[in-house]
Amino acid sequence: MRAVVYTKYGDPSVLSTQEVGKPAPAPNELLVEVHATEVTKADCEMRSFNFPTKLFVVPLRLVFGITKPKKNVLGLYFAGEVAAVGSEVTRFNVGDKIFGSSQLKLGGYAEYLCVPEHYTLTTQPKNISHAESASLTLGGLNALHFMNLADLKKGDRIMIIGAGGSIGLHAVQMAKAAGALVTAVDHGRKEDMLRQIGADDFIDYTKQSFSNNAEKYDVIFNMIVSTPFKSCINMLNEKGLYLMGNPTLSDMIQTKLTNTFSTKRANFSFASETVTELEALRNKVESGD
Ligand SMILES: NC(=O)c1ccc[n+]([C@@H]2O[C@H](COP(=O)([O-])OP(=O)(O)OC[C@H]3O[C@@H](n4cnc5c(N)ncnc54)[C@H](OP(=O)(O)O)[C@@H]3O)[C@@H](O)[C@H]2O)c1
Repeated sequence: MRAVVYTKYGDPSVLSTQEVGKPAPAPNELLVEVHATEVTKADCEMRSFNFPTKLFVVPLRLVFGITKPKKNVLGLYFAGEVAAVGSEVTRFNVGDKIFGSSQLKLGGYAEYLCVPEHYTLTTQPKNISHAESASLTLGGLNALHFMNLADLKKGDRIMIIGAGGSIGLHAVQMAKAAGALVTAVDHGRKEDMLRQIGADDFIDYTKQSFSNNAEKYDVIFNMIVSTPFKSCINMLNEKGLYLMGNPTLSDMIQTKLTNTFSTKRANFSFASETVTELEALRNKVESGD
Protein backbone atom coordinates (compact mmCIF):
# COMPACT_ATOMS: atom_id res chain seq x y z
CA MET A 1 0.00 0.00 0.00
CA ARG A 2 1.05 3.63 -0.32
CA ALA A 3 1.75 5.87 2.67
CA VAL A 4 3.17 9.32 3.29
CA VAL A 5 6.36 8.60 5.22
CA TYR A 6 8.89 10.73 7.13
CA THR A 7 12.12 9.50 8.69
CA LYS A 8 13.52 12.78 10.07
CA TYR A 9 12.08 15.90 11.68
CA GLY A 10 11.79 18.96 9.45
CA ASP A 11 9.70 21.07 7.06
CA PRO A 12 7.08 19.50 4.71
CA SER A 13 9.83 18.35 2.30
CA VAL A 14 10.67 15.50 4.73
CA LEU A 15 7.39 13.83 3.68
CA SER A 16 7.35 11.46 0.70
CA THR A 17 4.90 8.92 -0.72
CA GLN A 18 6.29 5.39 -0.53
CA GLU A 19 5.22 1.74 -0.82
CA VAL A 20 5.03 0.13 2.65
CA GLY A 21 3.65 -3.15 3.97
CA LYS A 22 -0.12 -3.37 4.52
CA PRO A 23 -0.82 -3.88 8.25
CA ALA A 24 -2.77 -6.90 9.56
CA PRO A 25 -5.23 -6.43 12.44
CA ALA A 26 -4.51 -7.95 15.89
CA PRO A 27 -7.49 -9.79 17.49
CA ASN A 28 -8.81 -6.55 19.09
CA GLU A 29 -8.17 -4.35 16.02
CA LEU A 30 -9.93 -3.11 12.89
CA LEU A 31 -8.24 -2.78 9.52
CA VAL A 32 -9.54 0.48 8.06
CA GLU A 33 -9.33 1.57 4.43
CA VAL A 34 -8.59 5.25 4.90
CA HIS A 35 -10.65 7.55 2.65
CA ALA A 36 -9.63 10.83 4.26
CA THR A 37 -7.28 12.08 6.96
CA GLU A 38 -6.93 15.49 8.52
CA VAL A 39 -3.57 17.25 8.40
CA THR A 40 -3.71 18.91 11.79
CA LYS A 41 -1.59 21.53 13.47
CA ALA A 42 -0.50 18.72 15.82
CA ASP A 43 0.77 16.68 12.81
CA CYS A 44 2.80 19.69 11.68
CA GLU A 45 4.18 20.12 15.21
CA MET A 46 5.16 16.42 15.37
CA ARG A 47 6.68 16.52 11.85
CA SER A 48 8.90 19.49 12.66
CA PHE A 49 9.24 18.72 16.38
CA ASN A 50 8.32 22.34 17.02
CA PHE A 51 5.64 22.60 19.70
CA PRO A 52 4.23 25.99 20.76
CA THR A 53 4.56 25.19 24.45
CA LYS A 54 8.12 24.26 25.47
CA LEU A 55 6.92 22.82 28.79
CA PHE A 56 6.83 19.19 27.73
CA VAL A 57 9.80 19.04 25.33
CA VAL A 58 11.65 16.28 27.21
CA PRO A 59 8.67 13.88 27.60
CA LEU A 60 7.62 14.61 23.99
CA ARG A 61 11.12 13.69 22.71
CA LEU A 62 10.90 10.43 24.66
CA VAL A 63 7.44 9.64 23.23
CA PHE A 64 8.00 10.68 19.60
CA GLY A 65 11.72 9.91 19.20
CA ILE A 66 14.81 11.67 20.51
CA THR A 67 16.71 12.39 17.26
CA LYS A 68 14.25 11.06 14.63
CA PRO A 69 10.58 10.02 14.63
CA LYS A 70 9.75 6.59 16.06
CA LYS A 71 6.54 6.37 14.00
CA ASN A 72 7.12 7.09 10.33
CA VAL A 73 3.51 7.65 9.21
CA LEU A 74 1.69 10.66 10.69
CA GLY A 75 -2.10 11.14 10.83
CA LEU A 76 -4.08 11.21 14.08
CA TYR A 77 -7.60 11.57 12.69
CA PHE A 78 -9.20 9.73 9.80
CA ALA A 79 -12.42 8.54 8.19
CA GLY A 80 -12.83 5.36 6.18
CA GLU A 81 -14.38 1.95 5.83
CA VAL A 82 -13.76 -1.14 7.96
CA ALA A 83 -11.98 -3.62 5.64
CA ALA A 84 -11.40 -6.46 8.15
CA VAL A 85 -11.89 -7.12 11.85
CA GLY A 86 -9.84 -9.11 14.38
CA SER A 87 -11.39 -12.18 16.03
CA GLU A 88 -12.28 -10.33 19.28
CA VAL A 89 -13.90 -7.25 17.72
CA THR A 90 -17.57 -6.72 18.65
CA ARG A 91 -18.31 -3.00 18.09
CA PHE A 92 -17.82 -2.84 14.30
CA ASN A 93 -18.40 -4.91 11.15
CA VAL A 94 -16.71 -5.04 7.75
CA GLY A 95 -18.18 -2.26 5.59
CA ASP A 96 -18.97 0.15 8.45
CA LYS A 97 -18.08 3.75 7.64
CA ILE A 98 -16.24 5.02 10.69
CA PHE A 99 -14.26 8.05 11.83
CA GLY A 100 -12.16 9.01 14.81
CA SER A 101 -8.68 8.94 16.22
CA SER A 102 -5.75 6.55 15.90
CA GLN A 103 -4.27 8.27 18.98
CA LEU A 104 -0.52 7.80 19.38
CA LYS A 105 -0.50 4.89 16.93
CA LEU A 106 -0.88 7.62 14.26
CA GLY A 107 -0.88 6.12 10.72
CA GLY A 108 -3.70 8.08 9.03
CA TYR A 109 -1.51 9.20 6.09
CA ALA A 110 -1.78 5.74 4.51
CA GLU A 111 -4.19 3.68 2.45
CA TYR A 112 -4.83 1.34 5.40
CA LEU A 113 -4.33 1.49 9.16
CA CYS A 114 -5.06 -0.80 12.10
CA VAL A 115 -6.70 0.58 15.24
CA PRO A 116 -7.92 -1.11 18.46
CA GLU A 117 -11.72 -1.05 18.54
CA HIS A 118 -11.78 0.66 21.98
CA TYR A 119 -10.11 3.82 20.56
CA THR A 120 -12.18 6.99 20.03
CA LEU A 121 -14.08 5.69 16.99
CA THR A 122 -17.68 5.58 15.89
CA THR A 123 -19.81 5.42 12.76
CA GLN A 124 -19.74 8.52 10.56
CA PRO A 125 -22.60 11.05 10.50
CA LYS A 126 -24.88 9.93 7.66
CA ASN A 127 -25.19 13.44 6.18
CA ILE A 128 -21.52 14.30 5.56
CA SER A 129 -18.63 12.96 3.47
CA HIS A 130 -15.53 11.00 4.49
CA ALA A 131 -13.43 14.18 4.22
CA GLU A 132 -15.85 16.19 6.35
CA SER A 133 -15.95 13.38 8.92
CA ALA A 134 -12.14 13.22 9.08
CA SER A 135 -11.96 16.94 9.75
CA LEU A 136 -14.60 16.79 12.49
CA THR A 137 -12.85 14.80 15.19
CA LEU A 138 -10.05 17.02 16.54
CA GLY A 139 -11.79 20.35 16.19
CA GLY A 140 -15.22 19.07 17.14
CA LEU A 141 -14.14 17.10 20.22
CA ASN A 142 -11.94 19.86 21.57
CA ALA A 143 -14.59 22.51 20.93
CA LEU A 144 -17.21 20.32 22.62
CA HIS A 145 -14.94 19.90 25.66
CA PHE A 146 -14.34 23.64 26.04
CA MET A 147 -17.90 24.70 25.22
CA ASN A 148 -19.17 22.26 27.89
CA LEU A 149 -16.85 24.05 30.35
CA ALA A 150 -18.10 27.43 29.09
CA ASP A 151 -21.72 26.39 29.81
CA LEU A 152 -23.03 29.29 27.71
CA LYS A 153 -26.54 30.70 28.24
CA LYS A 154 -28.63 32.55 25.67
CA GLY A 155 -27.28 36.10 25.30
CA ASP A 156 -23.85 35.41 26.88
CA ARG A 157 -20.95 37.11 25.12
CA ILE A 158 -17.98 34.97 24.10
CA MET A 159 -14.72 35.93 22.38
CA ILE A 160 -12.96 33.10 20.51
CA ILE A 161 -9.28 33.78 19.70
CA GLY A 162 -8.09 31.54 16.84
CA ALA A 163 -11.72 31.17 15.73
CA GLY A 164 -10.87 30.22 12.14
CA GLY A 165 -8.84 27.13 13.07
CA SER A 166 -10.04 23.57 13.46
CA ILE A 167 -11.09 23.93 17.12
CA GLY A 168 -12.28 27.52 16.82
CA LEU A 169 -14.67 27.06 13.93
CA HIS A 170 -16.47 24.24 15.71
CA ALA A 171 -16.56 26.32 18.93
CA VAL A 172 -18.14 29.26 17.04
CA GLN A 173 -20.96 27.00 15.81
CA MET A 174 -21.54 25.42 19.24
CA ALA A 175 -21.57 28.85 20.93
CA LYS A 176 -24.13 30.09 18.38
CA ALA A 177 -26.26 26.97 18.90
CA ALA A 178 -26.27 27.83 22.65
CA GLY A 179 -27.59 31.33 21.81
CA ALA A 180 -24.39 33.24 22.62
CA LEU A 181 -23.08 36.38 20.88
CA VAL A 182 -19.75 35.50 19.33
CA THR A 183 -16.76 37.73 18.65
CA ALA A 184 -14.29 35.84 16.44
CA VAL A 185 -10.58 36.79 16.32
CA ASP A 186 -8.52 35.45 13.42
CA HIS A 187 -6.89 36.42 10.12
CA GLY A 188 -8.98 38.74 7.90
CA ARG A 189 -9.09 36.18 5.06
CA LYS A 190 -11.39 34.04 7.28
CA GLU A 191 -13.88 36.80 8.13
CA ASP A 192 -16.51 35.86 5.50
CA MET A 193 -16.44 32.18 6.46
CA LEU A 194 -16.65 32.98 10.19
CA ARG A 195 -19.58 35.37 9.70
CA GLN A 196 -21.33 32.71 7.56
CA ILE A 197 -21.08 30.13 10.37
CA GLY A 198 -22.43 32.60 12.92
CA ALA A 199 -19.81 35.06 14.22
CA ASP A 200 -21.55 38.34 15.19
CA ASP A 201 -18.35 40.40 15.37
CA PHE A 202 -14.93 39.88 13.84
CA ILE A 203 -11.47 41.16 14.75
CA ASP A 204 -8.57 40.70 12.29
CA TYR A 205 -5.56 39.97 14.50
CA THR A 206 -3.16 41.17 11.79
CA LYS A 207 -4.71 44.67 11.84
CA GLN A 208 -5.95 45.24 15.38
CA SER A 209 -5.24 43.93 18.88
CA PHE A 210 -8.23 42.01 20.26
CA SER A 211 -7.74 43.93 23.52
CA ASN A 212 -8.40 47.35 21.84
CA ASN A 213 -12.05 46.75 22.57
CA ALA A 214 -14.15 48.17 25.41
CA GLU A 215 -16.56 45.20 25.34
CA LYS A 216 -16.70 42.83 28.36
CA TYR A 217 -17.16 39.07 27.86
CA ASP A 218 -18.68 36.23 29.89
CA VAL A 219 -16.22 33.79 28.33
CA ILE A 220 -12.96 34.16 26.40
CA PHE A 221 -11.74 30.98 24.71
CA ASN A 222 -8.15 31.29 23.50
CA MET A 223 -6.16 28.85 21.33
CA ILE A 224 -3.12 31.09 20.73
CA VAL A 225 -0.06 30.55 22.90
CA SER A 226 1.21 34.14 22.64
CA THR A 227 -2.02 35.74 23.94
CA PRO A 228 -1.31 37.78 27.11
CA PHE A 229 -3.16 36.26 30.09
CA LYS A 230 -3.78 39.63 31.75
CA SER A 231 -5.41 41.19 28.66
CA CYS A 232 -7.98 38.39 28.58
CA ILE A 233 -8.71 38.57 32.31
CA ASN A 234 -9.19 42.36 32.04
CA MET A 235 -11.82 41.87 29.31
CA LEU A 236 -13.98 39.53 31.39
CA ASN A 237 -17.10 40.38 33.36
CA GLU A 238 -16.71 40.07 37.13
CA LYS A 239 -17.68 36.38 37.05
CA GLY A 240 -16.28 35.71 33.60
CA LEU A 241 -14.32 32.61 32.57
CA TYR A 242 -11.03 32.48 30.64
CA LEU A 243 -10.46 29.14 28.84
CA MET A 244 -7.06 28.26 27.32
CA GLY A 245 -6.40 25.52 24.75
CA ASN A 246 -2.67 26.13 24.71
CA PRO A 247 -1.39 27.26 28.14
CA THR A 248 2.18 28.22 29.01
CA LEU A 249 3.68 27.61 32.48
CA SER A 250 3.10 31.29 33.25
CA ASP A 251 -0.60 30.92 32.25
CA MET A 252 -0.92 27.93 34.59
CA ILE A 253 0.52 29.89 37.55
CA GLN A 254 -1.68 32.91 36.76
CA THR A 255 -4.72 30.59 36.52
CA LYS A 256 -4.12 29.41 40.09
CA LEU A 257 -3.71 33.00 41.33
CA THR A 258 -6.83 34.20 39.48
CA ASN A 259 -8.96 31.36 40.83
CA THR A 260 -7.70 32.04 44.38
CA PHE A 261 -7.82 35.84 44.56
CA SER A 262 -10.47 36.99 42.06
CA THR A 263 -14.15 36.52 41.26
CA LYS A 264 -13.06 35.74 37.67
CA ARG A 265 -12.08 32.19 36.75
CA ALA A 266 -9.54 30.60 34.43
CA ASN A 267 -9.17 27.02 33.17
CA PHE A 268 -6.59 25.31 30.93
CA SER A 269 -7.84 21.71 30.98
CA PHE A 270 -7.11 19.23 28.19
CA ALA A 271 -9.84 17.47 26.20
CA SER A 272 -10.17 13.76 26.93
CA GLU A 273 -11.60 12.73 23.50
CA THR A 274 -13.95 9.90 24.53
CA VAL A 275 -16.22 7.66 22.43
CA THR A 276 -19.25 9.14 24.25
CA GLU A 277 -18.20 12.66 23.20
CA LEU A 278 -17.54 11.53 19.60
CA GLU A 279 -21.03 9.99 19.47
CA ALA A 280 -22.49 13.24 20.86
CA LEU A 281 -20.65 15.16 18.15
CA ARG A 282 -21.92 12.80 15.40
CA ASN A 283 -25.47 13.23 16.73
CA LYS A 284 -25.13 17.05 16.69
CA VAL A 285 -24.04 16.90 13.04
CA GLU A 286 -26.86 14.53 12.06
CA SER A 287 -29.49 16.65 13.83
CA GLY A 288 -28.17 19.90 12.32
CA ASP A 289 -27.12 21.36 15.70
N1 LIG B 1 -6.08 21.82 25.15
C1 LIG B 1 -6.27 20.80 24.32
O1 LIG B 1 -6.84 19.78 24.73
C2 LIG B 1 -5.79 20.90 22.89
C3 LIG B 1 -6.12 19.88 22.00
C4 LIG B 1 -5.74 19.98 20.68
C5 LIG B 1 -5.01 21.10 20.25
N2 LIG B 1 -4.65 22.07 21.14
C6 LIG B 1 -3.86 23.25 20.70
O2 LIG B 1 -4.79 24.25 20.32
C7 LIG B 1 -4.21 25.07 19.30
C8 LIG B 1 -5.24 25.36 18.24
O3 LIG B 1 -5.50 24.16 17.52
P1 LIG B 1 -6.23 24.20 16.10
O4 LIG B 1 -6.19 22.79 15.61
O5 LIG B 1 -7.54 24.91 16.19
O6 LIG B 1 -5.17 25.09 15.28
P2 LIG B 1 -5.33 25.76 13.84
O7 LIG B 1 -6.30 24.98 13.02
O8 LIG B 1 -3.96 26.00 13.33
O9 LIG B 1 -6.01 27.16 14.17
C9 LIG B 1 -5.36 28.25 14.74
C10 LIG B 1 -6.04 29.51 14.19
O10 LIG B 1 -5.58 30.66 14.91
C11 LIG B 1 -5.24 31.67 13.97
N3 LIG B 1 -4.26 32.56 14.59
C12 LIG B 1 -2.90 32.50 14.54
N4 LIG B 1 -2.37 33.51 15.28
C13 LIG B 1 -3.42 34.19 15.82
C14 LIG B 1 -3.53 35.33 16.68
N5 LIG B 1 -2.44 35.97 17.14
N6 LIG B 1 -4.77 35.76 17.03
C15 LIG B 1 -5.87 35.12 16.59
N7 LIG B 1 -5.86 34.04 15.76
C16 LIG B 1 -4.63 33.59 15.38
C17 LIG B 1 -4.73 30.90 12.79
O11 LIG B 1 -4.78 31.72 11.65
P3 LIG B 1 -3.56 31.83 10.59
O12 LIG B 1 -4.05 31.07 9.41
O13 LIG B 1 -3.42 33.28 10.32
O14 LIG B 1 -2.33 31.25 11.24
C18 LIG B 1 -5.73 29.74 12.73
O15 LIG B 1 -6.92 30.09 12.05
C19 LIG B 1 -2.98 24.30 18.77
O16 LIG B 1 -1.78 25.01 19.06
C20 LIG B 1 -3.01 22.97 19.47
O17 LIG B 1 -1.72 22.52 19.83
C21 LIG B 1 -5.05 22.00 22.44
